[in-house]
Amino acid sequence: MEIVIVKDRAMVGQHAAGLIERTVLGKPAAVLGFATGSSPLPVYEALEGKDLDWTDVSGFALDEYVDIPVHHAQSYVSVIRREVVDRLGLDERRVRVPDGRARDLDVAARLFDEAIREAGGVDLQLLGIGTNGHVGFNEPGSSFASRTRVTALTASTREANSRFFDSVHQVPMHCITQGLGTILEARRLVLVADGTRKADAVARAVEGPVTSKCPASAIQLHPCATIVIDELAAAKLTLRDYYRYSARRPARAETGALL
Ligand code: GLP
Repeated sequence: MEIVIVKDRAMVGQHAAGLIERTVLGKPAAVLGFATGSSPLPVYEALEGKDLDWTDVSGFALDEYVDIPVHHAQSYVSVIRREVVDRLGLDERRVRVPDGRARDLDVAARLFDEAIREAGGVDLQLLGIGTNGHVGFNEPGSSFASRTRVTALTASTREANSRFFDSVHQVPMHCITQGLGTILEARRLVLVADGTRKADAVARAVEGPVTSKCPASAIQLHPCATIVIDELAAAKLTLRDYYRYSARRPARAETGALL
């Protein structure tokens, strides 16, 4: 794992956007995994300022609420259109969000995983982290082998996400999310987090035991994971001085190898 600690939320966005930029420059038909929530927004904002050709890029979103109307401002299909597709000028037909309105949600989930496979797999998956350690909507207890599927949101996630709705009662109870097994198949993971609110979850994900009680701890099993966090989100990492020290690479070590 590579842990990058930067000054603030804007720098988290700049750094993660730089990693995405490098991926797209190296592979113009890159397959990107997009995340929702507030943490990735500075990443998309920073990408907007870059002169990248998005023509051949395709993307897959992590998750979607079940039975949220498609035009609801907080449906992830709306969020991805607004924050990613329109902002960057991607071809909407090349960006797929799990279908939370499908008559048969299990079939929709299976087709989503198949579509990722047919696209050749995800080159870089951007991730946020929930305060309870969820990634995508993989709540505590999710199997590390799980595939895209329908699952229930925890009360704490519904409470956390109620800030995007008029009340907690309007937050859907179910979701369709890429599984941890699906996410771990991406060639590169980039997890972003900022603020004091995320410090506990980040510490558990990065330095805690690998356990389904903290789904984000699955990133410890990935061979190419980068965690980009601000000082506040890094506050509870016991090894943070070492991460800072080890981030200073020798000048000639442009090998692309990760720690
Ligand atoms: C939602 C999303 C997650 C996201 C999490 C954290 O539940 N499904 O993908 O990581 O929220 O959101 P935020 O970045 O707004 O704290």
